[in-house]
Amino acid sequence: MLIKRPRGWELPESAATPEQVWLDRRSLMLGGAGLIGAAALPRLALAQEGDPSADLYPAPRNEAFALDRPVTEESVASNYNNFYEFGSSKRVAAAAQRLETRPWSVVVDGMVEEERTIDIDTLIRGMSLEERLYRLRCVEAWAMAVPWTGFPLADLVAMARPLSSARYLRFETFLNPDVASGQRQSWYPWPYVEGVTMEEATNELAFLVTGVYGKPLQQQFGAPIRLALPWKYGFKSIKSIVRITFTDERPVSFWEELAASEYGFWANVNPDVPHPRWSQATERMLGTDEQRPTVIYNGYGEWVAGLYAGLEDEPLYM
Ligand code: MTE
Repeated sequence: MLIKRPRGWELPESAATPEQVWLDRRSLMLGGAGLIGAAALPRLALAQEGDPSADLYPAPRNEAFALDRPVTEESVASNYNNFYEFGSSKRVAAAAQRLETRPWSVVVDGMVEEERTIDIDTLIRGMSLEERLYRLRCVEAWAMAVPWTGFPLADLVAMARPLSSARYLRFETFLNPDVASGQRQSWYPWPYVEGVTMEEATNELAFLVTGVYGKPLQQQFGAPIRLALPWKYGFKSIKSIVRITFTDERPVSFWEELAASEYGFWANVNPDVPHPRWSQATERMLGTDEQRPTVIYNGYGEWVAGLYAGLEDEPLYM
């Protein structure tokens, strides 16, 4: 988001290739490239079929989280992703399939009664999964609405038994430049890091996501486990988490480290506070040309506005 060169997100939607055209073009290119390329195609579908948690989906929907707009088509949301580990374009789905999501474990450490490393399937099967329809508002002024499956972050906090001194949660994504070519770009402060306060983490809306569209999460969405914080700009919703640390120090996130004047810790959605380089007043729904007015806290003020009482002097909206 910082680097001064043509960025994927600067493309107008009209310049983006429709998914089917792109897939057709890709299969032509791979076919021409010979056997290795052609063999790579089915991996996109196989990755999910072999997922050991597949039997848990679809999970029952929690109807408390209603949408004011249609769900974004799966083919659109699955082919327009921000996952800088695999490149700065939105077309990272194919490259992201290189990420092996089993075995996978999540370290829970720092200010907890007992530090532990949890196997992802033990974690997923130990939680009660539900589906929630959530909006996602990217800081780049596009938006989508998706059916995430997962469990409240508050359930993981309870499981972790934090010490009373813990004030923040710090999340970290995997680090493997052999697999993720973006991580060979040394000007980025890898691994991707994000953080929230304990109050935010235990808010009902904060959700750890393990599936989408009624299936296990695909790699480009941040498999096998990512965060969804729908009242904040999308960059807070960190993907492919390997470590969750309870701490008394406010974490410095990936984007904050790169450009603190543009991307802050709080990053709550607000139409009236522009990004230094563009307006946040409206948002474009992925897969359409529709522009909708942006809503404070992305429409989730009822759940979260109270979290920020007394913090008015903080830069809550960047
Ligand atoms: N997490 C990691 N590890 N790496 C990333 O590049 N991009 C963020 C966020 N989480 C990102 C990440 C941004 S900018 C957005 S908008 C959302 O993921 C996009 O999620 P999506 O691709 O599922 O739409």
